Amino acid sequence: MEELRSAVRWAATHGAMRVAIRARARAGNPDARFLADPDLRADPYPHYERLRTPDPFTAGGLARISVHHDVCNDVLRSEDFGQIGAARTDGLPAVLRLALRLAGPRPGVSPIEPPSMVAVDPPDHTRYRRLVSRAFSARAVAALRERTRAIADELLDGLEREAALHGGQVDLVAGYASLLPVTVVSEVLGVPVEMRRQFLAWGDRAAPVLDLGLDWSTHRDVERSLVELDTWWNGHLQRLRRDPGADLLSRLVTAVDDDGGGLTETELRATAALVVGAGFETTVNLISNGAALLFAHPAQRRLLAEDPSLWPNAVDEVLRVDPPVQRTARRARRDTTVHGVPVAEGEWLILLLAAANRDPRVFADPHAFDVSRPNARDHVAFSSGIHFCLGAALARMEGEIALQALFERFPDLRPAGSGRRRRTVILRGHESLPVVLGATPPLTRSASGRHHGDHEAHRPPGT
Ligand code: HEM
Repeated sequence: MEELRSAVRWAATHGAMRVAIRARARAGNPDARFLADPDLRADPYPHYERLRTPDPFTAGGLARISVHHDVCNDVLRSEDFGQIGAARTDGLPAVLRLALRLAGPRPGVSPIEPPSMVAVDPPDHTRYRRLVSRAFSARAVAALRERTRAIADELLDGLEREAALHGGQVDLVAGYASLLPVTVVSEVLGVPVEMRRQFLAWGDRAAPVLDLGLDWSTHRDVERSLVELDTWWNGHLQRLRRDPGADLLSRLVTAVDDDGGGLTETELRATAALVVGAGFETTVNLISNGAALLFAHPAQRRLLAEDPSLWPNAVDEVLRVDPPVQRTARRARRDTTVHGVPVAEGEWLILLLAAANRDPRVFADPHAFDVSRPNARDHVAFSSGIHFCLGAALARMEGEIALQALFERFPDLRPAGSGRRRRTVILRGHESLPVVLGATPPLTRSASGRHHGDHEAHRPPGT
């Protein structure tokens, strides 16, 4: 029965959107073509440039779209716009809305539907965000630096051991980029670290949830993984209620906000699942995109080796040039005007963050990857306005430590093939990135203080 309900939900939403996107693609709409063809996503940037007209908006695959830094920023900061959230299905024909009502809501909580923080407007948004923001402040993040460095070093030790078993070659995503953020966020929030591989598996299957126009089998897999995750969260939060620790989730379980009311059970599960999911599904891409950019730009890599104080800026330049979250959307809450263009209440606007980051009016020579670019930090990779990424400070710190530790430990690190890109539209990163580690310099030490030369020397040959 649930399978049938899921099929109806798919047909009324993604199925209907696929039909609309294909029709627009046939009519020559470039963004619709991009949405309809996963092969175009290997390198989306030339496509985005085709959308760059002087007008504030151009016709996108499903709604009007903006590639301009100022327009994106202004919409994201405007009170005239809100999250799409529960209104995702408002524009559907009446018959599809009826079908959806009959099928019932998606089981479990979803990161893109209320009460997820990123899917709601104030006052709910303010209430949810206030409860978790302290754990991600600049001060809280600074306190995590050392532990993050130790995690990076432990993972690099593991990578080295694995490479020794596989002729020097490893997958950077599976062995490092994916494990670092999930380990950090699990420790911060109080999720058992032994769950991290399971979380990654759920995360990989659930990541397309952000996209529109999914095929049926992806949609079904997304729904199933969200239900499995939700069931796990249910059990975990009950365990914390019985036996709370000192972590953020334990505090949330017992949290009482200023109005005297804590989070409802569903709000709690949605907040926990969003913060954990957002905490690892994006930063993995920052690390893999950063590594790929540095492979492609050896001169920039040399600059970082000569002047390591450039690493924080290099992370912002990675976020600018190849951001893990490529686009977002907003819905007009009332009739309004954006840069002189009328927008009707209920209309959706797509904000192409990845293209805004290459706006030539803001960034000189915008397609160049330049780790010493003075205004790299002006990107909108973390969005803008009230939904500005809650984990931005944590993501920047993790990205900096992960990339610096990796390239300093393995100065000869090089790609072994081009890897595989994720096929998602909104999230951009790698499914795999095979690399050859190369030799470790004699004086590199891990957090444990162990000499990496010793590590190699103690291992029997051939293991
Ligand atoms: C490089 C890594 C990351 C990128 C590129 C990224 C990007 C974003 C973006 C673009 C948004 C806003 C979406 C919108 O405006 O519609 C967002 C929101 C959010 N991010 Fe991140 N994120 C990253 C890492 C993290 C981390 C590490 C965490 C937490 C541990 C996190 C937690 C959140 C949360 C909770 C929100 C919702 C905030 C709100 O609605 O007020 N993110 N992120």
